[in-house]
Amino acid sequence: MKDILSELEDRRDNARLGGGQKRIDAQHSRGKLTARERVELLLDEGSFEEFDMFVSHRCTDFGMEKQRPAGDGVVTGWGTINGRMVYVFSQDFTVFGGSLSETHAQKICKIMDMAVQNGAPVIGINDSGGARIQEGVASLAGYAEVFQRNIMASGVVPQISVIMGPCAGGAVYSPAMTDFIFMVKDTSYMFVTGPDVVKTVTNEVVTAEELGGASTHTKKSSVADGAFENDVEALAEVRRLVDFLPLNNREKPPVRPFFDEPDRLETSLDTLIPDNPNTPYDMKELITKVADEGDFYEIQEDFAKNIITGFIRLEGQTVGVVANQPMILAGCLDIDSSRKAARFVRFCDCFEIPILTLVDVPGFLPGTSQEYGGVIKHGAKLLFAYGEATVPKVTVITRKAYGGAYDVMASKHLRGDFNYAWPTAEIAVMGAKGATEIIHRADLGDAEKIVQNTQDYEDRFANPFVAAERGFIDEVIMPQSTRRRVSRAFASLRNKHVKNPWKKHDNIPL
Ligand code: HXC
Repeated sequence: MKDILSELEDRRDNARLGGGQKRIDAQHSRGKLTARERVELLLDEGSFEEFDMFVSHRCTDFGMEKQRPAGDGVVTGWGTINGRMVYVFSQDFTVFGGSLSETHAQKICKIMDMAVQNGAPVIGINDSGGARIQEGVASLAGYAEVFQRNIMASGVVPQISVIMGPCAGGAVYSPAMTDFIFMVKDTSYMFVTGPDVVKTVTNEVVTAEELGGASTHTKKSSVADGAFENDVEALAEVRRLVDFLPLNNREKPPVRPFFDEPDRLETSLDTLIPDNPNTPYDMKELITKVADEGDFYEIQEDFAKNIITGFIRLEGQTVGVVANQPMILAGCLDIDSSRKAARFVRFCDCFEIPILTLVDVPGFLPGTSQEYGGVIKHGAKLLFAYGEATVPKVTVITRKAYGGAYDVMASKHLRGDFNYAWPTAEIAVMGAKGATEIIHRADLGDAEKIVQNTQDYEDRFANPFVAAERGFIDEVIMPQSTRRRVSRAFASLRNKHVKNPWKKHDNIPL
């Protein structure tokens, strides 16, 4: 009996070694943790329950039958993050470069199926040379099985991908279909075709880092949502993110204890808006002053900075924030910011996370590059996302809300529940100067008349009261009371229930 028990321990020890000490040392020497170390850091101490530790591949080609490491290059199971359940898979680069075989895929599919059945998020840690070359189409089939599950799980349980090594070829499409992608600077990359293929086909010379590193994907392509210095920081940030999210689409987001007065007044906000309407200010100041304990978890911080997206808590409850940033491109909407915000709004709506929208938007960015790039369709994504969202929606207009962008930014007309404006709000079809030049074109040569006409337009429209008279603004509020007003608004909406008409699914302008 004792021998049998110790044999189990021996087998376990052997499985834990993955591809062996030499390869573990190589992994460490690159500044990377092993698959198991990552799981340990991600989950609460001692909470990890492993599945399929002894699964090994069935390939007999190319002498593979002689190397059948237990676990087959991926560690899978479940555990908890601050006491809440998550499923996890972590690819082990020390075993055949973390490449995906038929059985490796089956292990991932098993935990994805359980996650959907039991209503808990899936976190995938990717560190892999892609399809297991020795297995051919069996490996490709394995990928597609994972893809299909990503699609079915989308909007049912949150899915988070952490890229901690290579992720190339079709393998990038599994992370691409998850809700959030995090990367580690200098040790991770994602691309459909690597630098060598790029050189052959297009003659471009580019490094892996330039082509698909963390900086590329968080600043240029927007494929990834966050870039971190090392494995430890990335995993700590995943834990922080999970704390904001519900476990599945049937549950509300978690409510945390909070140590901040919902009634807290912020008198400094009364002077946040500069006297000159063209002077920028930092919208993040408003976000952190409204949030419980000033805690703001930003998503896609380095991309399309003219719009800010992320999570805060109000009275301990998760709220998604979308805010124009006047510091960048005057806070206008364009292709990138519309896409970024639309995806975020849809994520919040999938998972019943209420949305706070902070508006200071002079309109859509004009120009051929925007029009040729399809700003009409991309802008419509955000409009569509706000209009279809049934979660509680509270909007605060701090300054400009011009033209179509006024409509788009969670206006009353797109079923905004509470639409507040600060006294500094200017809600109009466009800025006073532009408006005057169009409606008083005949006076264009007369400088005095232009000044007078501009002033008249400003007096009439550069305020929130025309909209308030029509009920498009529910209340004009003091900036200092924003946290209190917004917290009370969301509190009153906790039982909100709105249903869209039945449909198979909508046809958002992709
Ligand atoms: C089997 C693989 C492998 C793979 C790496 N290894 N990739 N084994 N299938 N795809 C093994 C290596 O043989 C080696 O084994 C170990 O993993 C580490 O690999 P190295 O090359 O020594 O490491 P490194 O120098 O760090 O380079 C990592 C790498 C490189 C950049 C990932 O290995 C590489 O280019 N691999 C091939 C990538 C690829 O073309 N994959 C297929 C993509 S197509 P030993 O025994 O020496 O430790 C694809 C399609 C998916 O994925 C389609 C889905 C629809």
